[in-house]
Amino acid sequence: MKILVTGGAGFIGSQIIDLLLAEGHTPIILDNLSNGREENVPNGVKIYRKNLLSDKVERIFEKEKPDIVMHLAAQVSVAKSLENPAEDAAVNVLGTVKLLEYSIKYDVKKFIFSSSSAVYGYTNEVIHEESSTSPISFYGTSKLVSETYIKLFNRLYNLPYTILRYANVYGPRQRSDGEGGVISIFIEQLLNNETPIIFGDGNQTRDFVYVEDVARANLLAITNADNQVLNISTNTQTSINLLYTLLSNQIHSLQKPNYEAKREGDILHSHLSNTKALKNLNWEPEYDLISGLEKTAAYFKKKE
Ligand SMILES: NC(=O)c1ccc[n+]([C@@H]2O[C@H](COP(=O)([O-])OP(=O)(O)OC[C@H]3O[C@@H](n4cnc5c(N)ncnc54)[C@H](O)[C@@H]3O)[C@@H](O)[C@H]2O)c1
Repeated sequence: MKILVTGGAGFIGSQIIDLLLAEGHTPIILDNLSNGREENVPNGVKIYRKNLLSDKVERIFEKEKPDIVMHLAAQVSVAKSLENPAEDAAVNVLGTVKLLEYSIKYDVKKFIFSSSSAVYGYTNEVIHEESSTSPISFYGTSKLVSETYIKLFNRLYNLPYTILRYANVYGPRQRSDGEGGVISIFIEQLLNNETPIIFGDGNQTRDFVYVEDVARANLLAITNADNQVLNISTNTQTSINLLYTLLSNQIHSLQKPNYEAKREGDILHSHLSNTKALKNLNWEPEYDLISGLEKTAAYFKKKE
């Protein structure tokens, strides 16, 4: 199938591209390379270097007539969303609505959306898809609003969708600068004998899911779980302090972290149930944190 992957030059998107190619699909990419990298794009894969918001995006739909849209391109930073809510909403909400309009106009068969656990907000409970949504950042809000548009486009115009709410994704190709994830940042810093910073007391928890598992969830969503919202997670929570210890052991580093004040917009605990994805997507993670960290650390060591 021909699959338009927005954000396909980014961390998760490029891993999806690799998997789609391996499965015999024809992926094409829409990415303005604002956070993605040219080197993530395999030879032979067509990339349109365009902003989501450009009027030229319609021409891509007209010309390529994709069967499926996997929408990953986004303003991905919680901090930036708090600094500039309008820009976050423009890219994340307006960008999504434009893609939905083109998807209807050019007969896309399914819209697969990368949402986030940031839609839930504060809770100490295990989070299910039916749990209340109360984002504490504009990023979480823009993802939740996009979900609402996707559901309404489905109701009004019958565009099938799957919404995947990813937990904290990590793995090879995640950036360790700018909008990087905590794991890639810690690994690079430990490898360079720098002092990593832990915001807050380090007892905050995250549900870390390995990127290849996330890519496989997207692949399965092509033919499964129509019109459903699913958590893509490991169903376990790990504190940042424990994560730090695991990584230090992995890298054989004795470096101690510095602790700084907690950041605005960061949730305290995140533990997402994945039983719905298991049942409806036939998906479960193949990597636990130890095996995922091994592969991730090996990638960054090789890159050094
Ligand atoms: N990484 C995570 O832990 C995580 C967790 C939950 C949800 N997500 C979601 O998954 C998706 C992919 O995230 P990622 O971690 O791979 O981030 P990423 O920044 O590596 O990927 C996003 C891609 O979108 C592109 N992009 C950004 N703005 C654009 C625009 N206006 N026009 C065209 N392209 C644009 C960037 O260049 C980048 O390649 C995002 O939608 C993100 O919100 C990620």
